[in-house]
Amino acid sequence: MTDVGFLTTVPLFRGLSEGVLRELASRLRERRYRAGEAVFHQDDPGGQLYLISAGQVRITMTSADGRERDVALLNAGDYFGEMSVLDDSPRSATARVTAEVHAFVLDRAGFHAFLIANPEVAFHLAISLAKRLRHADEMLADATFLDVPRRVAKSIAHLARTVGRPLGAQIQGPVDQDGLARLVGATRE
Ligand code: CMP
Repeated sequence: MTDVGFLTTVPLFRGLSEGVLRELASRLRERRYRAGEAVFHQDDPGGQLYLISAGQVRITMTSADGRERDVALLNAGDYFGEMSVLDDSPRSATARVTAEVHAFVLDRAGFHAFLIANPEVAFHLAISLAKRLRHADEMLADATFLDVPRRVAKSIAHLARTVGRPLGAQIQGPVDQDGLARLVGATRE
């Protein structure tokens, strides 16, 4: 798929004209990452926004003693890295590739100029950040109010809805018992 063809499938850019998407495509750089690779680490300086064209990325927070907690699993059409690009602070989490990624990268100046020229993208971005904040609030409440078995059950139901195949609740992708533990803030045991 061409850059522009891919951009028409990204929810953040819905409704934009082909000319605007072509102009955006001219500012993007293509990147590929292998499974297991980190695109960046928590606390790195951040200057780029990433659009996932194929593959999967795990967004992970690490404690001072090295324990990991996944905060999101992102797939084709999703973006990440916007927080540092918007507020000019270090990366809030690590982005690690779980299935080979093909991505397009936009630098801070390019993203800012694009948002100013296309306010509807800023509106879509605000909606999507509100959804992420809602999800983060829910994870915080779950960690406080639900025990581990209930968090596991909820996480499996969420995975089935978001990455499960349409037949039954078969879950696609590399979410093993360790992965499930990282998603609910527990250990495999
Ligand atoms: P940034 O802080 O630049 O780098 C880490 C990225 O992880 C962050 O931008 C977001 O793109 C992404 N991220 C952080 N927290 C969440 C979350 N709760 N849901 C989805 N993505 C997140």
